[in-house]
Amino acid sequence: MRHLLSPLDLSTEELDELLDLASDIEHNPDKYKEACKGKKLATLFYEPSTRTRLSFEAAMLNLGGNVLGFSSADSSSVAKGETVSDTIRIISCYADICAMRHYKEGAPLVAASKSSIPVINAGDGGHQHPTQTLTDLMTIRSLKGRFDNLVIGLCGDLKFGRTVHSLINALSRYTGIKFVLISPNELKVPSYIIQDVLEKNNLEYKEVERLDEVIGELDILYMTRVQKERFFNEEDYIRLKDSYILDAEKMSLARPDMLVLHPLPRVNEISIEVDDDERAVYFKQAQYGVYVRMALILTLLEIKVSD
Ligand code: NCD
Repeated sequence: MRHLLSPLDLSTEELDELLDLASDIEHNPDKYKEACKGKKLATLFYEPSTRTRLSFEAAMLNLGGNVLGFSSADSSSVAKGETVSDTIRIISCYADICAMRHYKEGAPLVAASKSSIPVINAGDGGHQHPTQTLTDLMTIRSLKGRFDNLVIGLCGDLKFGRTVHSLINALSRYTGIKFVLISPNELKVPSYIIQDVLEKNNLEYKEVERLDEVIGELDILYMTRVQKERFFNEEDYIRLKDSYILDAEKMSLARPDMLVLHPLPRVNEISIEVDDDERAVYFKQAQYGVYVRMALILTLLEIKVSD
């Protein structure tokens, strides 16, 4: 049985297959509408979410399956003190596959070790968010046509932003990638990622503080929200929250074919005037999130749909 806990759980070949499937689903949705008939997806969300939970649910419903679950720790038996290990043993009796979001790093890994159904990590603390990465990769592949030879700027909260950590991991396997890491000094990419991913794989990267100085070099600009919920004190959050605001003026310095991605939700790091710029693809990115999750559910449940 397979789980998806880290973006590296899929080889690059498997990832290509999954993205091919997601793209077939995008173009032929009717073919898949009964593929998961009789199957159940459990969404176990111990932390708030809109897109991830609802896109998982939409994905399973689009496949003709059913969904059950909870959307906050307060409304589940966690409030009574139940452990993740016990919860997953029970959920294994009720559902065929589950997606778990947890505020603790590693919780989905613990769940997977006790589970008899596939577990999907839907975000664990400030650690990883592999299904957002699948969404990001489908966006890049669909709109840029490649993963190789790209200059990728990651901007904002690179310390706590789990989507950033997973995306760096996933892209580290392609050639000619150059990362431009744009953050305030306090929110830099954690040193374990610099050492174990970037330096170990001899990837080209630079760390800078100003977005306007580098925006003209980028093929992709991946904006992120300052992760308020992971700060230890409010003062630091208030000081750092407006570090970057992407507006029309900054966009005028960017290449005509640069794409702006954002996992969403945005707070104020992208001004709404940018939404009408055709390089802004974050809403399209959210739509791709449903197709990749449909493809992932089919892959982990080993369901094949023939033409
Ligand atoms: C991201 C997350 O939860 O890490 N959101 C999402 O899943 N699309 C990004 C964020 O919350 O800033």
